[in-house]
Amino acid sequence: MKKIQISPSILSADFSQLGNEIKRLEVGGADLIHVDVMDGHFVPNLTIGPPVIKALRKYTNLPFDVHLMINPVHKYIKDYAKAGSDIITIHPESTQNLKNSIKEIKDLGKMAGVSLNPDTPIKTILKDLKDIDLVLVMSVFPGFGGQKFMPEVLKKIDELNQLRTKNNFNYKIEVDGGIDFTNSKKTIEAGADILVSGTTIFKENDGDLKKNIEILRNS
Ligand code: DX5
Ligand code: ZN
Repeated sequence: MKKIQISPSILSADFSQLGNEIKRLEVGGADLIHVDVMDGHFVPNLTIGPPVIKALRKYTNLPFDVHLMINPVHKYIKDYAKAGSDIITIHPESTQNLKNSIKEIKDLGKMAGVSLNPDTPIKTILKDLKDIDLVLVMSVFPGFGGQKFMPEVLKKIDELNQLRTKNNFNYKIEVDGGIDFTNSKKTIEAGADILVSGTTIFKENDGDLKKNIEILRNS
């Protein structure tokens, strides 16, 4: 039985209490903490940078699953690694040389993720799949929490799952955006190993984090 991991996105947390919110997520059974970094350029929203990640590091030992929606990303990879990221996920559109950026992340001792927007085909990263630890499949266009899940990405998840099996690749498949209690099961069935969720985890069942994490994990 595949163990599904839950990576709550702190984009939906109380930004005035991020340290305590991260502790609440750990107590609630989160496997990772999804940190959405946005620069107001690659995506039309601006969130947090390395100093905040550094400040949050002492609140948990859970892996920081850092999603960099910034461009150009190569200038900042080292800063996010030093701040305490464990997984650094980048978008192919934000680097001149994806292979080099993946190598830089791994040389820094971090897990390398690559994120595919809904309109970015798998062929964009086909030659890199052997080198990456995680594929982050976006089920919304990045920038904001609370958007509607795009079911057309289920096909992409299934294709990544088949490619992984056929070629003996090792990447994890993480899905991010609009994940809720109505689509989590089919997302897992398509091949997802890790589910990102912000709105559903923080808002459903009066914000009962433990309950919402459990429901998603056992979908
Ligand atoms: C969107 C972010 C997602 C988002 C998920 O750009 O990458 O991680 O915060 O939030 P929900 O679960 O609310 O869609
Ligand atoms: Zn994200």
